[in-house]
Amino acid sequence: MSEMKRLAAERAIDYVEDGMIVGVGTGSTVAYFIDALAAWKDRIAGAVSSSEQSTARLQSHGIEVIDLNAAGPLSLYVDGADECDPHKRLIKGGGAALTREKIIAEASKTFVCIVDPSKQVPVLGRFPLPVEVIPMARSLVARELVRLSGGQPVWRDGVVTDNGNLILDVHNLSIVDPVALEREINQIPGVVSVGLFARRPADVVIVGGEPPQVF
Ligand code: A5P
Repeated sequence: MSEMKRLAAERAIDYVEDGMIVGVGTGSTVAYFIDALAAWKDRIAGAVSSSEQSTARLQSHGIEVIDLNAAGPLSLYVDGADECDPHKRLIKGGGAALTREKIIAEASKTFVCIVDPSKQVPVLGRFPLPVEVIPMARSLVARELVRLSGGQPVWRDGVVTDNGNLILDVHNLSIVDPVALEREINQIPGVVSVGLFARRPADVVIVGGEPPQVF
């Protein structure tokens, strides 16, 4: 699958324009995008990064990383996903970077999602749904998630997010109304964010292949 990831990532370079500040996601597919973006380092104004991991890779290529508050609204955000449905709604957060990813997606005019074909599903939920929670609310949120969704939350033991929080992964879901579930989970006290990108889905999805499919 890594070849498919690379093909999707390299196709996303077509959306980069001179002078842009590019929003950059997190994960193994985005790593290929960052490597391809290196050729543009003197043509773009810099990047806004969604994780310490992506920041390190961007800086290793000499790409300036800019704080989102200084950058203002972005034209372009490129990120991967753990699942993608036909309506470009996504599950993200397998790399625990969902909150910063969601913030940058919201700040961006165009969200280009880059995936390999294994990420495409008819209905979201086969991939356990990540939820970032404030540590003291872990048990409370887990109980509420069971009540709300019927799924089984599992604490991602040993993982602390870049924001100092914990991750619960909700297993055994079939998410027929992702917009409603995203809204309901967001309302639980102690939830920082949920890895459902349904209210603000991707604008463009690139599926790696020869040639890549764009929808
Ligand atoms: C990071 O938190 C995630 O949202 C990633 O975007 C997602 O897990 C995709 O990762 P890969 O590109 O490594 O498959």
